[in-house]
Order: sequence, then structure tokens, then C-alpha cells
Amino acid sequence: MLEMKGITKRFPGVLASDDVSFDVYPGEVHTLLGENGAGKSTLMKILYGLYEADEGEVLLNGEPLDIHEPTDAIEHGIGMIHQHFMLVPTLTVAENVALGLRSSKGVRTDLDVVSARILELSEIYGLKVDPNAFIWQMAVGEQQRVEIIKALYRDAQLLILDEPTAVLTPQEVDQLFVTLRQLRDDGRGLIFISHKLHEVLALSTRITVLRHGRVTGSVSAEGATRESLAQMMVGRAVKLAPDKTEAHPTDVKLAIKDLRVLRDRGEEGVRGVDLEVRAGEIVGVAGVSGNGQMLLAEAIAGLRTPSEGSIRIAGTEVVGMNPKEVRGTGLSYVPEKRMKDGAISEFTVSENLLLIDHNESEYLNHGLYDFGTINEHCQQLVEEYTVKTPTLDTPARNLSGGNIQKMIIARELSGTPEVLVAAQPTRGVDIGAAEYIHKRLIEQRDESTAILMISEDLDEVFGVSDRVAVMYEGEIMGIVDPKTATREEVGLMMAGVGREQTGG
Ligand SMILES: Nc1ncnc2c1ncn2[C@@H]1O[C@H](COP(=O)(O)OP(=O)(O)O)[C@@H](O)[C@H]1O
Ligand SMILES: [Mg+2]
Repeated sequence: MLEMKGITKRFPGVLASDDVSFDVYPGEVHTLLGENGAGKSTLMKILYGLYEADEGEVLLNGEPLDIHEPTDAIEHGIGMIHQHFMLVPTLTVAENVALGLRSSKGVRTDLDVVSARILELSEIYGLKVDPNAFIWQMAVGEQQRVEIIKALYRDAQLLILDEPTAVLTPQEVDQLFVTLRQLRDDGRGLIFISHKLHEVLALSTRITVLRHGRVTGSVSAEGATRESLAQMMVGRAVKLAPDKTEAHPTDVKLAIKDLRVLRDRGEEGVRGVDLEVRAGEIVGVAGVSGNGQMLLAEAIAGLRTPSEGSIRIAGTEVVGMNPKEVRGTGLSYVPEKRMKDGAISEFTVSENLLLIDHNESEYLNHGLYDFGTINEHCQQLVEEYTVKTPTLDTPARNLSGGNIQKMIIARELSGTPEVLVAAQPTRGVDIGAAEYIHKRLIEQRDESTAILMISEDLDEVFGVSDRVAVMYEGEIMGIVDPKTATREEVGLMMAGVGREQTGG
């Protein structure tokens, strides 16, 4: 149904698409796989009319396609679910779906018709939504279902899903895949974008791999392995599980006692956590998102004041300190909300890389900044963590999301802090970078940092941690040894099964 031929797209300093050809048959899922910045979104934005290609042509059902804006694409039956949702928070589901539809009747009647059709689509495809609910009240998984319904309402035959699983829990991913398989079996064409190899293998019919804007391979999913795909993505053999020696933990560096933390809306999100992390060990915190992990991390970093309890970093009580003071006690922090808590978008890459230690004497020469040393340090970080940026003086806002993440992680992992709290350290970064981040975490451990790693990715939790604490509804369900525990055991604890308690 779709043929893109010889697509080339240049941005200042970047060849985002380099003579790319890509096609889709009805009834298949053709996946675009590639590291951050490989050119996946660019190719799809060209198809959807958000960017104009410099060269190449696009055919839909054999006819040349002339698309200049998304409304053209929608008219041709192309739908796109973006990485960042495009819904209006203050409107209801039905109002959002109705937005932009041509209507002849009064709004009132139209909305009833729209609601009825939404319920119908929701029924057919297992996309649970309430047409009258407001977008702002919804979790991200629900908002995504609304986006899909919106596209189906417009009868999209070709559906582009740009990293749809990035924001979902494992259970929501399973649900989404059931829907996507059904859409595929209906004879629609699906373009799936992801860099999670197990997902790609589970869903795809065919897989095309992009690297630096070029196609490096196009294979049938049958017979592909995680290793073979990773190699095409990165351009070299990749270790998918980190090498790790036995931990030799020593003194307690992070001591959390009876910690209680409130959510924004006042209810208790962390409900009496006791946890210790020693120098030289990595404690992984596993759990489904929203079970208090983020509140725990924010409380440690001084971004949120606990209602009760104590947090000691290298012996110093940090409850009541502001984030800068907490850092002063020896904390490095990779926040989950990296864009909000981790970077200043107006600052350059090198300024962001130096945000936490611009007072350090190694960068000062007779009281003046030693730009030679600073540049060398920043250049090294950019290379080690493969942060794709034109120059060190480029403002962070010009980088892709994945590259901003790598920049923040490079900064936080470059020192030897007493304690490192790393929340979702590899979420949204590519395999090559994830491999390097895991290696750095283990190196930092061996340099005697006490590491608390919060992750929803069980492969990561099992591969990197020396001990695994499972969090559920604000409590630690238990602590297990990843060498002997099974994924099923941890999965059950993540679902709240096995809590030792009386009543409730
Ligand atoms: N609007 C834009 N202006 C300048 N450069 C861009 C723009 N959009 C994307 N790029 C660059 O093009 C390259 C490919 O980006 P993108 O298609 O978003 O990659 P992916 O989706 O695979 O992560 C990156 O180097 C990115 O920085
Ligand atoms: Mg993208």
C-alpha cells in the first residue's frame, strides 16, 4: 500500500534521511528500528506531511502522493500516533475526536454521534475509553487509546505509531499489542517505531533498521534475533547483558528510615519505607510506574519534603535540605523527568554538562574558567555517551530527547559520588548507550559509590542490581537476590502478591 523511494532530507548539519526506501503491505507490521537520532521520526513526519522531503517520492496504492500537511495525510487514510500526544487536555474524549471533523449539524447532535462511534470502536478493538471523560483526568495509557481511536474514527488504513510503548507499563504494552495485532489482521498497514528489541520481535512482520539516516538492513522478523538487530542498529556486536563481578559492599551510605512521602494531591505515596544501600553495591528498585518510586527518588534528592522519616547520605541527615544542599552531601541524581529536573534547555551542551560542578577548582585557573580543560572534559563525555550534537555550544533544546537524556546521564555518571540515585537510567536511550550506561554504573559501584537504581525494565533490574527491592503501593514488598529470584517471583511482588500483612 505504501512505497517511499529514495527519500532524502537534510537539516542544517544533519542528513536525517539519506536515500531511504521503505514500503508497507496491507496486513503487516513493518517496524522502523534505530538508535535515537537515526531518522525514524523524520521519515514518518515526511509521510505525514509535517516535513517536506528534499528528494524522493511517495506512492500510496500505486499513486504518487502529494502531501503538504497532516490534513492531506488524514484524507488519504494515514494516521499518526505521535511520541508526544496532541490532545487538548481541557476537552473530553468525544470533543477531541470531533476536533477538525467537518460537521453539518449542530455541535450537540454531532457529539452524540461521535460518542456512539467511539464506544463502537472501543468495543471492537478493546480500547477502553469513556467518551465523556476529560483528557486531563487520564493516565498516559488512556490518552494513547484516545489517539488511536481518533485515527480509527478517521478510518486510517495506514497507521504510524512513533514509540507508542515508551510511556506504557508492561501490562499496557501487552494490551496495546492485542489491539495492534487486530488492526493488522483487519488488513491495515502498521508502521511501528521502537528501539526495544523484545517488543519489535514480538510484534513485527518485517523490520527495517536505520542508522545515521541510512537503511542498514531490512529483514523478516522470523529468524531475526535481538543480537542480530542490535548489531544492525549500532554497527558492531553489542553485549545485551552487562559483565559484572561480585559486589563487595562496605559501609551504609544511604540510609532511609520509616519514610513517608505525600503525592501532589495529598495522599500518601510512600508509606513507611526502610532501605539501606552500602558503598559498592547496586540496589535495584523494581515496580510498576506510579507505586511511589518517583516520590522516593524525589525525596532523596530534596525535590520533595517527606511528611515523616529520615534520609541519611554518608551520615548526614538530608530531610529539610534543598536539592543543592543535598548534592553537597555527595549525591548524584539522574531524575526520571529528565527534561524538567535534569536540563536547562536554553543552556548549551557544555553548560549543561557542567551544571553541577561549575565551581570545581579543576576548571579554574587563577580564578578564571579554564576553557581548554572544560572543553576537553565535555568533548570526552559527549563521545563516551554518544551524545549527538553539532557542537558543544549548541543549546540543549536543539538536541533530540534521547540525546538530552544521554547528556544528563553523562553528567551524573561522570564523577564518583557517595550515593547515586538513578531513575530509569536507560529509558528512552538506545542500546549502544544503554550498554555503556550499565557498564558505567557497575564501574561506579566498583569505585565505591552506593547506587540506588529505580527501573521498570526487569531485564535491567536483573542484569545490573546486586539486590532487588520491589515496590508496590508505596511499600517495599521485599528484597530479593537477583541471582536466585525468578522474574515471575518479582513480577508477582510488583503486582502486590505476597505482601506479608494482616487485613486489607
Ligand atoms: N526540525 C529539525 N531541525 C533540525 N534537525 C532535526 C529536526 N528534526 C530532526 N532533526 C535531526 O535529524 C536527525 C534525526 O532525527 P529523528 O528523525 O528525530 O530521529 P529518531 O526519531 O530516529 O530518534 C537527528 O540528528 C535530529 O537532531
Ligand atoms: Mg523519534
